[in-house]
Amino acid sequence: MHNKQPIGFIDSGVGGLTVVKEALKQLPNENILYVGDTARCPYGPRPAAQVIEYTWQMTRYLMKKDIKMLVIACNTATAVALEEIKAALPIPVVGVILPGTRAALKATKNNRIGIIGTIGTIKSGSYEEALTQKAPNTTLSSLACPRFVPIVESNEYHSSVAKKIVAETLQPLKLKQLDTLILGCTHYPLLRPIIQNVMGHSVTLIDSGAETVGEVSMLLDYFAIANAPQASNQKTCEFYTTGSANMFEEIANSWLNLTKISVTHIDLGAC
Ligand code: DGL
Repeated sequence: MHNKQPIGFIDSGVGGLTVVKEALKQLPNENILYVGDTARCPYGPRPAAQVIEYTWQMTRYLMKKDIKMLVIACNTATAVALEEIKAALPIPVVGVILPGTRAALKATKNNRIGIIGTIGTIKSGSYEEALTQKAPNTTLSSLACPRFVPIVESNEYHSSVAKKIVAETLQPLKLKQLDTLILGCTHYPLLRPIIQNVMGHSVTLIDSGAETVGEVSMLLDYFAIANAPQASNQKTCEFYTTGSANMFEEIANSWLNLTKISVTHIDLGAC
């Protein structure tokens, strides 16, 4: 059975595009709808109750468009809202934290894993909980990096300022003898080359969002809801942002290499 309903992706802004990029590669037949709540980004420093409310608004918006699966492509939202949304929806709901922990445990050789994320994600302790439950002997070091998301959202992630901020912020982790570092925020893969340079090439970086797409693929097969092969000009790939459509389009264009991108400004207030 083939199912051509779209898969929905949600994030506080452009960060979830790093997950979409991987979805375009691993799941080229799937139709994609994306909501980025850019106007209210960052979610990282916000109280959990507010992040849950905003995440529900994006979810309701996409549910009205008849998605067949929801990917919470935001670590901060996954940390506080995944369980509630998963329990309430009649479709599969996937978050980005568990796939990231599985990949990190697979990659580490010295059992010293670092986690970087927003204040909300690090404060929730979700990665630590998942990692210690699976592998209690792992040594974990986590660090909130609140200055990273604004660099990405303002399209400054190639700049020398970005290099300086990343180098300064990650300094404490360089002393921890990590061999694996989880990029526990979907915005961070856009800073990946800089992060890799600062941490050194012996540290394996885990992109939680990219790892998530493998699980989405598995669930499509498990529930027999994958789409049939389709010509690329028939494929739906629509992006909605609560912020500036132009800025979003600029970042999406340079990051996704799609020939034509459809970005629409939306208001989530009524959702
Ligand atoms: N992309 C986000 C994450 O994965 C959130 C960034 C933010 O809104 O603070 O946590």
